[in-house]
Amino acid sequence: LRIFGGTACPKLASDVARYLGFDGPHGMIVKRFADDEVYVRITESIRGCDVFLIQSTCSPVNDSLMELLLMIDACRRAHAAQITAVVPYYGYARADRLVEKREALGSKLCANLITRAGADRVIVMDIHSPQSCGFFDIPLDHIHGSAVLAGYLKENQMPMDDLVIVSPDIGGVKRARYFAKELNDSSLAIIDKRRPASNVSEVMNLIGDVQGKTAVVVDDMIDTAGTICQCCDVLLENGAKRVFAMATHPLLSGPARDRLANSGFEQVIVTDTIPIPADRTFPQLRILSIA
Ligand code: R5P
Repeated sequence: LRIFGGTACPKLASDVARYLGFDGPHGMIVKRFADDEVYVRITESIRGCDVFLIQSTCSPVNDSLMELLLMIDACRRAHAAQITAVVPYYGYARADRLVEKREALGSKLCANLITRAGADRVIVMDIHSPQSCGFFDIPLDHIHGSAVLAGYLKENQMPMDDLVIVSPDIGGVKRARYFAKELNDSSLAIIDKRRPASNVSEVMNLIGDVQGKTAVVVDDMIDTAGTICQCCDVLLENGAKRVFAMATHPLLSGPARDRLANSGFEQVIVTDTIPIPADRTFPQLRILSIA
């Protein structure tokens, strides 16, 4: 067994390798040339090995993706017996369907690229929508951060009797229901969100009762934090006593840090599928490891 970590989430790759009893990830050189081309070389023999490549395709998304493809290619050319691409955060997953005429289907294209590069298997975590799993013609495991995230609520003795799990949109109801089940079958609320433009969300209605309750909004990702912060306002306006945010992937792009820091969230709990630069941290942030 060999584990290699790309430059997108090196700490997570190290933690996984250590969890499995290695000193760290195995040897690989990744360099960038002056024109931003990427160079990858595996520094030890992997002939006949079962290889796991850990690389989130997070920002800069295209660079991370290309690096993953080169890692796969290097392993294939070095005669690895089996290559598993472990992609904790799978970028382009929101491009999972055709809404307008003549759009590109980014999620499917990324699946094609990973497969054609030579991966035998793929592991993703909380991919934006399950239909993207079907874009792969090779075996795929879809694992969930909810075990770690819901576990945090249990460990921190969140009062289960007045807990309400909130889905920030209709698409996330299944995820929220799963969380609610994990947490003593707590009650569920749903926010009816519309998106007038990309990265702009507009809350329409709240379905469910949050009055006097501890509300936990669960989402797969926080990008600009527009969605989740609007949910927070609606929940507080509707009488929620305390509001928490939980999301697997902290993209935290653009205004996200300031929005979250100035929001009514008591805590914003995310995982380490994407490393968070220090300038994007704020007091309410908690980062849990999925290693
Ligand atoms: C949307 O369907 C996703 O699950 C997230 O709610 C969304 O991508 C978050 O984006 P933002 O933080 O920019 O509102």
